[in-house]
Order: sequence, then C-alpha cells, then structure tokens
Amino acid sequence: MSEQMNDKKAESKNPLSGNQAEQRLGTKFGGARKIAVIEGDGIGPEVTQQSIRVLDAIAESFGHEFNYTYCLMGADAIDKTGTPLPDETIEVCLNSDAILFGAIGHPKYDNDPTAKVRPEQGLLKLRKSLQLYANIRPISTYSSLHHLSPLKSKNIEGVDFIIFRELTGGIYFGKKETAADGSQASDDCVYSRAEIERIADLAFHFAQKPGRRKKLTLVDKANVLETSRLWRKVVQEMAPQYPDVTVDYMFVDNAAMQIILNPKQFDVILTENMFGDIISDEASVISGSLGLLPSASVGINERIALFEPIHGSYPQAAGKDIANPIGSILSAAMMLEFLGMEEEAKLVRDAVNWTLQYSFVTKDIDPVNFYFTSTIGELISDYVSGKISGSVKRENIELRKSTII
Ligand code: IPM
Ligand code: MG
Repeated sequence: MSEQMNDKKAESKNPLSGNQAEQRLGTKFGGARKIAVIEGDGIGPEVTQQSIRVLDAIAESFGHEFNYTYCLMGADAIDKTGTPLPDETIEVCLNSDAILFGAIGHPKYDNDPTAKVRPEQGLLKLRKSLQLYANIRPISTYSSLHHLSPLKSKNIEGVDFIIFRELTGGIYFGKKETAADGSQASDDCVYSRAEIERIADLAFHFAQKPGRRKKLTLVDKANVLETSRLWRKVVQEMAPQYPDVTVDYMFVDNAAMQIILNPKQFDVILTENMFGDIISDEASVISGSLGLLPSASVGINERIALFEPIHGSYPQAAGKDIANPIGSILSAAMMLEFLGMEEEAKLVRDAVNWTLQYSFVTKDIDPVNFYFTSTIGELISDYVSGKISGSVKRENIELRKSTII
C-alpha cells in the first residue's frame, strides 16, 4: 500500500475529527494541556511511557506544552491505597483536558472469584463517574502484517470499520446479586431509551462522515433479549433522520462469525456494552495483534475523554520491555485529535505506519525477529521529531533489537 493511501485511510478513520475537533481549535494554542496519566497494571506503565515519549516529541516539534499528572487506579491503587479508584484520581481526571490510561488487571484477583475488591472496579467506576458512555474502537489493517492474521489476506485487504461500544450501561452496571448460600447469582441487564439514543446518534453521525461508506450495523440479540429489542426499536425510529445511512441489524452470534468470514462488509458497528467488549477483541485478530488497537471513550462532558489501548494488562510480559506500545501510541494520537491537533495526530500515525512497514515490530508480531517496547517508542518519537530520514541506519537499530530468541 502506498504511503499516500495509508494517509488517506488514517484520515478517514479519524473518529474525533470534524465538528468536535473544530470546536476545540479555538483553544488549540491556548497554553498548556493538562493530561491525567493512569499507567495502571501489568504492561500499562511501560506502554504508556512510550506514548508520553511520543507526546513529548510532538510538544517539542509543534511548540505545545503537555502537563502530566500521574494518578492511581487498579491493582496498583489497591496495593497502595486499599481502593481501586481513589477519589483523588477522579478529581484529577475531572480537572484535565484528557486522560491517558494504560491497562488494568492482576492475576491474583482473576483467580479469586471471592475477592471483594477487584482492579477492574476502578476502571468501571471511572467510566461511570465521568459518564464516558461511548467507547470508539477503530479496526485497521496494515498490509505488512496481513501474513500474521489467521484470516486470508484477500479477506482482510481494505478492511476498515469502527465499533461504537456503549460503555456505561447494560449487564456491566446492572444489579448484581449472589444468594446468601452461594447457590445462585444474577447480573441485571438494563438499558434506557436515552442511553441508546445518545450513542446511536454519535454512531449515525460518524457513519455520515466523508470517507465513510455510510453503513451502520446494529449488533444485538433481539431474538432473545428484551434490551436488544429496545435497541432495535430505538435505532429503527432514529434511522429516518439519517437518510443517507443504510442501517442493518445483525444478531451478535452471527456478527461474531461474519467478522471472521467477511469483515469488509462492516463500516460502523453499534452495539451494547458486553457485546462490544467481546467482538472488539475478536476483531483485533484482523489487524494482526490485540496490541495494535487504540480506543477513545467520550462522554456527556464534551471536554473530557479517556484514551486507552483495548488490550489488557498482560501480566506475563510486564517489566520485560516486550509489550506492543502501538495500541497506546495510537490512543495518544486519538487524544491529539480530540485536543484539536489533527496534523500532530496524523504525524504519529504516519510514524506508526512507517515502523510497521519496515518490520520494526514487537514480539507479539514477530516472536523471532523483534524489537523492544522502548525501541519502538524511540523510533516513533524519532520519526515524529524528524530524526529519521529516508535512509534508515538499520545497523544502529539492529543493535537495539532483542537478542532473546
Ligand atoms: C476493555 C476491558 C474492560 C472491559 C475490563 C478490564 C473491565 O476488557 O476495556 O475492553 O470489560 O470493559
Ligand atoms: Mg475488553
């Protein structure tokens, strides 16, 4: 794929461009930007550090100032404060322009179903407290990585879709109960019309953007679930307001199969919280690695948004400098876009494309010939700073390659 085509693709995938970003342009040069940084657990700190490095390179090249405030969340926060989300973290986030988050989760809680306090509660509470109701997950493909996908190249060439996952409702947040004798448990799934309308509205608008194929697929389980029937009814009622968007409806079990069989058919997928969680991990295999995918969570307060890779804390890799920082770096690019810095975001994406094109990749992508997390971060920030010219001194970079084979 030519450089130019990559650029065009990256632009068309920009979920935060257009009105939202333009509204912020007025403050584009309005002084320092406050960024709350939550590194979290497992590989969270090391991938987030690479994003900070890239953001610093952007700040330097474009004359911006980013002020970072580090806060606690997750297992790290439980160890240090006894709670997965200290009030101070919410306070800092509310007073920031954007939040950059790494990953959450620790095996000591995963294997203990009786644990009363869990790291994930921190992230769920933060999403709810900031009312971040829409999680936007773009699925991209890179031709240099096609061979890594378990899917056939001809099926993934040109795949470009985006998942709008509802993030603050449904079964994640319904009433949870376990009978006193432990014989039964339940999780309620509740959705209100208003909760469906606000995210559907975002997804419809996104489908109308230039460069999109103007197709919206609602993924639900309307043949079984009452909440899904409400989603379908609300979306059907809204559809006439967006006459240029074709709407189709798919049961989630079929969608799970179609994402593998024929992912090209999708443009914008709209779905509820848990279905979105599951199908977005599934969709990452199209790109080649879960480690590549970014996300943005936006809410009712247009001023605040959270940016995080979709991967988990990958504890087996923590501290080894082998995790893929690209999901986090592309999340930082989405953050730049949100801050009205479109050109800066594009440069970061170009830098990422450049590393992948020249096979500067981490262990998840090439288990034999791989580069360290920090080397990839350095290469991307060097590219952003204009330190990498057409002729790369590959020998120098080779020295920074892993010798652990
Ligand atoms: C995600 C994660 C979270 C979720 C977990 C860590 C609570 O899997 O962001 O996709 O289920 O939402
Ligand atoms: Mg998930």
